[in-house]
Amino acid sequence: MSDIESLFVTRLYKARLNEVGAQISEDELFDSCYSIAEDDEAGQQWCEDNNFPGYTSYASLTDLPWRFPIFKDIVAALDKHVAAFAQDLQFNLDDRKLVLEDLWINVLPEGAYHSAHIHPHSVISGTTYVAMPEGASALRLEDPRHAMMMAAPPRLKDARREMQNFIYLTPEAGDVMLWESWLRHEVVTNQSEFDRVSVSFNYRWGE
Ligand SMILES: [Fe+2]
Repeated sequence: MSDIESLFVTRLYKARLNEVGAQISEDELFDSCYSIAEDDEAGQQWCEDNNFPGYTSYASLTDLPWRFPIFKDIVAALDKHVAAFAQDLQFNLDDRKLVLEDLWINVLPEGAYHSAHIHPHSVISGTTYVAMPEGASALRLEDPRHAMMMAAPPRLKDARREMQNFIYLTPEAGDVMLWESWLRHEVVTNQSEFDRVSVSFNYRWGE
């Protein structure tokens, strides 16, 4: 009888943002994202200068949680989700919490995408979804061992989920997803005529 086990697993966390006792209104969050985007001329300019379709506050606004109460509430909820995930990951944090490093709004219009990337210098990264209309981009996660797969055959199309090299996820508005920051991910082309709106964030190991 053979004994085959899974080693060195990659964990992925999914929950409802509000399930940790928060009461963040999806409508209010949606409106807040657009009103901030409309007022953020520096951010709009950055997007234009960098050929970034849609809008991101990443390069322009570093203080969303201090300026806008709804973002403060989001961070309070995210802190709990991240702590729960850190526990699942069995991190030894040595009495130092994981703390928010940055948090930003993304508005991705029809036809736009965000190519594959990691989040250097962080421990946990993730996104909470604000608007995911029908046809909105999936989040694509990549097997972190691709660079080592020089001669590995491809996997079967119907391979078990944990054996697949790419995972496509289509979360719903109100979901939060967390992964370790080294996990390469991509937002594929938005096929919806409506914007895909999300709030992404990084957590680092605090002092
Ligand atoms: Fe990302």
